[in-house]
Amino acid sequence: MDKIKNPFSPGAGSPPPELAGRDIVLEQARVLLGRAKAKRSEKSLLLTGLRGVGKTVLLNAIEHIAKDQDYRTILVEAHEGKSLAVLLAPHLRRLLFDLDRIAGAGDKARRGIAVLKSFVGAIKLKIGDLDIGLDIEPEAGSADSGDLEVDLPSLFMAVAEAAEERGTAVAIFIDEIQYFNMTELSALIMAMHKMQQRQLPLVLIGAGLSILPGLAGESKSYAERLFNFPDIGPLFQADALKALQDPVQEVGESFSDDALKEIFRLTKGYPYFLQEWGYQAWNQAVTSPITLQVIQETSDLVAKRLDDNFFRVRFDRLTPKEKTFLRAMAELGEGPYRTGDIAEKLNTKINILGPVRANLIKKGMVYSPSYGDMAFSVPLFNEFMRRVIPNFESCL
Ligand SMILES: Nc1ncnc2c1ncn2[C@@H]1O[C@H](COP(=O)(O)OP(=O)(O)OP(=O)(O)O)[C@@H](O)[C@H]1O
Ligand SMILES: [Mg+2]
Repeated sequence: MDKIKNPFSPGAGSPPPELAGRDIVLEQARVLLGRAKAKRSEKSLLLTGLRGVGKTVLLNAIEHIAKDQDYRTILVEAHEGKSLAVLLAPHLRRLLFDLDRIAGAGDKARRGIAVLKSFVGAIKLKIGDLDIGLDIEPEAGSADSGDLEVDLPSLFMAVAEAAEERGTAVAIFIDEIQYFNMTELSALIMAMHKMQQRQLPLVLIGAGLSILPGLAGESKSYAERLFNFPDIGPLFQADALKALQDPVQEVGESFSDDALKEIFRLTKGYPYFLQEWGYQAWNQAVTSPITLQVIQETSDLVAKRLDDNFFRVRFDRLTPKEKTFLRAMAELGEGPYRTGDIAEKLNTKINILGPVRANLIKKGMVYSPSYGDMAFSVPLFNEFMRRVIPNFESCL
């Protein structure tokens, strides 16, 4: 079959030909954006889910909706070792200058720039030569305490008031939100708390691995009241079949029913795996419909591709100790796993495992779905660990 016409798109953040099974979240986002713009309070959204389930493509889709609703949008991706302030400041600057350019009475955009300038000054932002605006003096006493949990809410307020004055609204999208530290997360939560109290038109839509178990005390209870945490998981069978069949039918071809069901069985409905399977099966097939036999013949190829790419890149970033830790988890079956059980498998004490566990969380390999529990953040990684290290004893 014509490889150029292949509709599938395996890859990080690559928009799928059919965004299947996400109608409820998209509707939630539409309602949030609509209500915030009308100054009615609504919980912000944090999309949480494992690697490759489609958080980034959803975030992009919601950004489109926001733009259609005349929102001003900012989309950033958090990294290990890059602070929230450094990440956001240049975007907020651009946004405030854009707002300042819109004709209208009032000077809140200029004030926003002044507040941003004092914010940047206070945290001694090292972002090269970010020139906030030469002719604008920083606003002393606003967002310049140097304490992010105080300053970020003030900054967001200044931005939101500027947007409000210009008759628009702001949506901030943050991907990989789990990379922020506790102070940063808590500052974001405080800032969103302010937005809700004042009913200002600024919403936050985040995506990443679950952050809730990592938050402590007050931050956590605020977060639960201020955010919805839709769980982005594998697709249900009907949606997974649609994600495969519809794009193929669109270009005049098809899958047989048993072929579709077999792909669902093998992928368990995980979106990244569905795209990879669709892509390879199409290339392997000689004619349409793509049959069960083609799927069976493609099976080894796809398994190898996933092992060599999707799984391998993550595996190669691990130290020997980290590999052993993950292999012990895999030995315990499906998960989530109690830290105590992992320690027992490794014949060691929980506190000795602390640093390895912390590094694995930092690398985004595992997360804590609830207190004291660990789980793989990459779907089916337990099976991969058993494939690359068949014998558990050998890695001890
Ligand atoms: N609803 C969906 N239907 C079909 N395919 C999808 C869907 N959502 C995502 N995909 C596909 O899954 C793959 C992974 O998507 P994406 O990069 O958004 O996942 P992610 O959750 O952001 O992963 P990571 O945690 O690694 O960043 C892409 O190839 C994308 O096209
Ligand atoms: Mg992503």
